[in-house]
Amino acid sequence: MVDVPEGTMFVGMAPETEGGPQVMRLDRANRHGLVAGATGTGKTVTLQILAQAFSDAGVPVFAADVKGDLSGICVAGTPNEKMLARAAGMNLALRPDCPPTVFWDLYGEKGHPVRTTISEMGPLLLSRLMELNEVQEGVLNIVFKMADDEGLLLLDLKDLQAALKYVADNEKEVDVKYGNVSAATVGTIQRGLLQLETQGAENLFGEPALNLSDLMRVDGSGRGVVSILAADRLIQSPRLYATFLLWLLSELFEELPEIGDPEKPRLVFFFDEAHLLFRDAPRALMEKVEQVVRLIRSKGVGIYFVTQNPADIPETVLAQLGNRFQHALRAYTPAEQKGLRAAAASFRPNPAFDTAEAIQGLGVGEALVSVLDEKGAPTVTARTLIRPPSSRLGPASPEERAAVQGRSPVKGLYDTAIDRESAFERISQKTADGQHKAELDAAEAQVARQRAAQEKEWAKEQARREREMSRPAPRARAPARSSRQGMGETIAKSVVRTVVPQLTRALLRGLLGGLKR
Ligand SMILES: Nc1ncnc2c1ncn2[C@@H]1O[C@H](COP(=O)(O)OP(=O)(O)OP(=O)(O)O)[C@@H](O)[C@H]1O
Ligand SMILES: [Mg+2]
Repeated sequence: MVDVPEGTMFVGMAPETEGGPQVMRLDRANRHGLVAGATGTGKTVTLQILAQAFSDAGVPVFAADVKGDLSGICVAGTPNEKMLARAAGMNLALRPDCPPTVFWDLYGEKGHPVRTTISEMGPLLLSRLMELNEVQEGVLNIVFKMADDEGLLLLDLKDLQAALKYVADNEKEVDVKYGNVSAATVGTIQRGLLQLETQGAENLFGEPALNLSDLMRVDGSGRGVVSILAADRLIQSPRLYATFLLWLLSELFEELPEIGDPEKPRLVFFFDEAHLLFRDAPRALMEKVEQVVRLIRSKGVGIYFVTQNPADIPETVLAQLGNRFQHALRAYTPAEQKGLRAAAASFRPNPAFDTAEAIQGLGVGEALVSVLDEKGAPTVTARTLIRPPSSRLGPASPEERAAVQGRSPVKGLYDTAIDRESAFERISQKTADGQHKAELDAAEAQVARQRAAQEKEWAKEQARREREMSRPAPRARAPARSSRQGMGETIAKSVVRTVVPQLTRALLRGLLGGLKR
């Protein structure tokens, strides 16, 4: 059996001259990482062995499963001859085993539904999701501000539709209070929302919203739960995929306290098809992503980007990825050659070989590995045969998935959507109220007149009694305030009564524009 030092995870074997067994330190695993390589070179398997090793070490893992082939992690493997030979070559006893797994799915088909609210997503990420320009984003900000002020909850897409309609219907008042909002711009955003619906985004928005602690579970035997997001359908809407994962990152960032460099990460997050995160992202968003990646590590979260070519990831982000696994790259076109040179330059050279040449010569399931040492410096790069996984290589069957879901620790918590009173219902109510406004006003005026008359009578009567009992008259009661409240006030109050925590939260927006709790 390979001997690995305490606090490290075994990832594979390099030639004796290049250091032999390659291990990754858990106390440096929050310094992020990169798994790169051309298609079919072994990225997903590397992700799988890392995820399983983290779980064994008691670290919960979140990973997107873009092709469905990571799902096999939930069942113990039945290694074939080749895998057994690979294991034997590195003196590894390959015992079939699998980590505790939970499946999630935005569409609720292959796992528990994952939901968030419009408020939590915030205008910045929503604008990105709908490809809004600056002017349109400005209007969306106004809609959010108006909803905050009016105490309207924005939970799902129909809440946002209703709030937009409200803004359009009350253009004049909104213009005065918040600045210019053109009906045409509102119309564009409304169409953007419809498009989102066709992508299935209405599944993402609503309640019960995901509680992040459910992604950070450890099972009874101390193993970290591996949360797998089924992303084979989601990836068909790349923008939704990227925005959702970005939202998740920013939520983790907002919610978790600072802990510096922990003994092991609190959560490890694998971001497959990571280039999608940065594709046509506006500069402001890129800067925020870079900031989140930089700051989240001291909250004990390690982010591992998985992508074909490291050149797909911006330099500022790449520079922060300390633990690197570079699988083979092909380099035929000038662009590919450039990418190869950049990838090679990011590795600490090993005098035993030329890095760029080595990257092209790697076999399947083989990678250049350089991880962070005790001091946080990159280890000398080693050509490493990655260990085979002890869980299933390839997809789990629908039956196996169902069995896993049947013992899920969050079973029943998310499976049924709830639709409580929010902006949509409040605004519909408001319109109904408007139709009766004249009658109501008349009735209220009548009541007020009656009450004033009673009040006068009462005061007279009091005075008379006081005189009779020859005691000083008490001070007259202040005239009763009109019982009528402004429509906005009524709504705000009724909402405050039922959902105080949500509303107080709504007042602070976090780094990526979502809510700060
Ligand atoms: N560490 C490993 N041990 C054993 N076999 C491996 C290992 N890595 C890769 N393989 C083999 O190579 C195949 C392809 O690997 P993998 O699916 O991880 O590639 P990939 O880089 O994720 O490809 P894609 O870009 O198409 O998703 C696996 O199905 C498996 O048979
Ligand atoms: Mg893959």
